[in-house]
Amino acid sequence: MPEKIIGFSKLSRDEKISWVSKNFLDNSNEFEDILNKYLNDDKDIQSIHDSLSENAISNFHLPYSISPNFLINHKNYCIPLVTEESSVVAALSNSSKFWYDRGGFKSKVISKIKTGQVHFKYNGDGENLEKFINDNEHRLIESTDRITKKMRERGGGISKIKLINKSAELSSYYQLHIDFKTIDSMGANFINSCLEIISKKFHELLTDSPKFKESEKKIEVIMSILSNYTPECIVESSLECKIGDLGNIDGMSPKEFALRFKDAFNIADIDVNRAVTHNKGIMNGVDAVLISTGNDFRAVEAGVHAFASSKGNYKSLSKCSIIDNIFKISLKIPLSVGTVGGITDIHPMVKLSLKLLKNPTSDDLMNIICCVGLAQNFAAVKSLVTTGIQKGHMKMHLINLLIKQNATKDQIDKSEEYFRNKEINSESVKDFLDQN
Ligand code: MEV
Repeated sequence: MPEKIIGFSKLSRDEKISWVSKNFLDNSNEFEDILNKYLNDDKDIQSIHDSLSENAISNFHLPYSISPNFLINHKNYCIPLVTEESSVVAALSNSSKFWYDRGGFKSKVISKIKTGQVHFKYNGDGENLEKFINDNEHRLIESTDRITKKMRERGGGISKIKLINKSAELSSYYQLHIDFKTIDSMGANFINSCLEIISKKFHELLTDSPKFKESEKKIEVIMSILSNYTPECIVESSLECKIGDLGNIDGMSPKEFALRFKDAFNIADIDVNRAVTHNKGIMNGVDAVLISTGNDFRAVEAGVHAFASSKGNYKSLSKCSIIDNIFKISLKIPLSVGTVGGITDIHPMVKLSLKLLKNPTSDDLMNIICCVGLAQNFAAVKSLVTTGIQKGHMKMHLINLLIKQNATKDQIDKSEEYFRNKEINSESVKDFLDQN
């Protein structure tokens, strides 16, 4: 077993590679050779990548794809997507094309408040503390003036501080629950910096206050951190058309399709096993745009799934209705995203994605991402209730197998027809290549 290493981060790139190769691989040059192939030839770009993460020794590539024809609030978008799942972009493109001719997506941002918390322990009178926080709210907010100046100039900043008494659930536990508006930035660093200043000021004001006993002044701040649960930072997108305008879909009449589609949504609303998979389909689209635009997909994933459980049971995030002959689907999700700050003005591909989306505000980006989630959801459920999901998946799988076996472009072009009614596996692909 290799020995524990101290100071790995201080080693040079070459030293890191040879240490890993010697201790965890076969000490050949293979590791370094592959890592080197993925380095960027442009030294400036490489140095940007190196600066993004500790111990970076190469780059990890994922496909950067485009899905055109997204008509959102009457504007035509071309969406940049980063995903490794082969069928996601094809499904999105089908969906956007389908809805382009049926009025496209409608989307609106419903609210945009983010929260941070100072978690602390306090042994004393809760009502007295609540009054103290209310009386000192402006002082606590003022203590952050230096770092909130620019944000306030843009219409953001801290909008509210309130005390939450959680001592019935956990002995002596209280929170300062603080609402923020971060305009076009996701705001994680901004929020966390404000929280740390507020927690210090809170301690200071309490220490100086004559209204508390000495024992009550000994609060213990456990931590100060933003919350990735953002149920007040919500966007809702929808798609609708007359049932008849759906047209015949894979041999199904529009009405038959609409009813079956709605059944699938109803199932996702009451069954957790299906709901998780249904929502995963939505996140296939959401995450792909989050990544291409340099946003924190882990934060959004965490917040979205908590939101899906906010009524006590984990439920579908999207809804389907058929009212007065109108087929409608909608998606409502919390999305805390930014179009400035973070890596949005550092990573060249992220900058390109934002340019492609016409330099959106964070509201625009929330709308775009939610529509892409809904498009993905429509495409997945449409396949599931008609041909089954494997048809589309197998098409991409076939291409992967063909590429693995060094097929030419001509062979790839011919393969779709050949495999229309045949089983797809390594053997059958080999037979096809031998014959063509
Ligand atoms: C696969 O990545 C996503 C789906 O499973 C989503 C769904 O079942 O709705 C196809």
